[in-house]
Amino acid sequence: MKILVAGQGGREHALLTALGADSSSNTPSTPHTLYCWPGSDAIAELAARPDASDVPTLVAWAVSEGIDLVVAGQEKYLAEGLADQCKAVGVRCFGPSQHATQLESSKAFAKDFMARHHVPTADYTVVNNEAELRAAATTLPVVLKYNGLAAGKGVSVCHEPAQVDEFCERVYQQELYGKDTVVVEQCMFGPELSVICAIAGDEYRMFPHARDYKPLLDGDAGPNTGGMGAVASKDIIDAELSTRIEADVIRPTVAGLVADELDYHGFLYFGLMLTDTGPRMIEFNCRFGDPEAQAVLPLLEGSFAQYLYKAAAGELDNSLLQVKDGWSVGVILASAGYPASSSKGDLLSGLDAVTHLFHSGTRKTEAGYVTNGGRVLCCVAHGNTRAEAVAAAYAEADKVSFDGMQRRNDIGTANFD
Ligand code: AMP
Ligand code: GLY
Repeated sequence: MKILVAGQGGREHALLTALGADSSSNTPSTPHTLYCWPGSDAIAELAARPDASDVPTLVAWAVSEGIDLVVAGQEKYLAEGLADQCKAVGVRCFGPSQHATQLESSKAFAKDFMARHHVPTADYTVVNNEAELRAAATTLPVVLKYNGLAAGKGVSVCHEPAQVDEFCERVYQQELYGKDTVVVEQCMFGPELSVICAIAGDEYRMFPHARDYKPLLDGDAGPNTGGMGAVASKDIIDAELSTRIEADVIRPTVAGLVADELDYHGFLYFGLMLTDTGPRMIEFNCRFGDPEAQAVLPLLEGSFAQYLYKAAAGELDNSLLQVKDGWSVGVILASAGYPASSSKGDLLSGLDAVTHLFHSGTRKTEAGYVTNGGRVLCCVAHGNTRAEAVAAAYAEADKVSFDGMQRRNDIGTANFD
């Protein structure tokens, strides 16, 4: 098959690696031809980079090249209509429509969807101005969520009145993100869990559960980032809790997608909080998680490519994919200044010694790979136990170095009791 992945980071590097590794004994193991747009220098080692300037030219290229399957990595391209445009010209795409991606891009759309379909989540009110916000946010802690895009700064978990003031200052006085509504939400407590599903109409399959680590520093200290690492395993929670998540959250969501005629074919990410009173939704993402993908996908065996090819047409053939036992841990190495800024051009050393390495933000130069973004690399390893996977992932991460490198030392260890 000819397969195109849209995106350019560590998640896409992991998706392409999984798509290229076809170990299924049921299907002929023909090597697939992989493409990635916009891609990166490191991804180009396994996937060619089509020459396209935007989504419409990419879709036109996919038609002329005879692409069999498009897989959406980054949500940006789905929000620009990648899946709709593929559908219009008859190219198979595993990714939801522009309309459905509001589950990720609009907090109010997602919360209204959850309320309508009885998906458990925190109580909330949608407010239009500061007076309404102040009237709704009388009890602390409270969570404030700007409805539109806010450069990753749209959510504030407020424990002090000063934090509410600071949010109002940014959103209403400075109007930093525009004039959208704000969701005022009850604060929930408990460990978080990432559940990523493949959805094909009314069918779903959960991939092994994962946990990511958003704060920059050990012990969940410091500013929030895109994610400093992830741990994944089918044993991360017990079977009873997994069944409860399916019954309380996943099934009502899939039924809601069908009832609302969203015609959902793609990955759906459920960001959950495991509260004392049961699993509660925090957020949806219309894509695989990053860095969850880097930890989850190496646990899959079989033919991921054939699986997604059929899923895009409405069938989840679970015989095509098996899940390995054990644990997978991915440690992110970030550049100096991240997350406030990032450092470009720092030379990476030791890459050749690492077995499973996904590139998030690098560029190839004559001297070798250099940093080219905030999150730079993810070193991943498998182990029979969580402790073994943690030790193996850090043994890999220890081989890599560059000026200003930042990493957490408790990925896979913190947030387990
Ligand atoms: P979101 O962008 O909605 O995923 O929120 C970012 C982070 O804020 C989440 O990963 C949680 O850690 C935290 N958060 C969001 N909503 C809540 C809530 N209702 N209660 C407690 N923490 C929350
Ligand atoms: N790891 C969180 C996300 O992908 O949004």
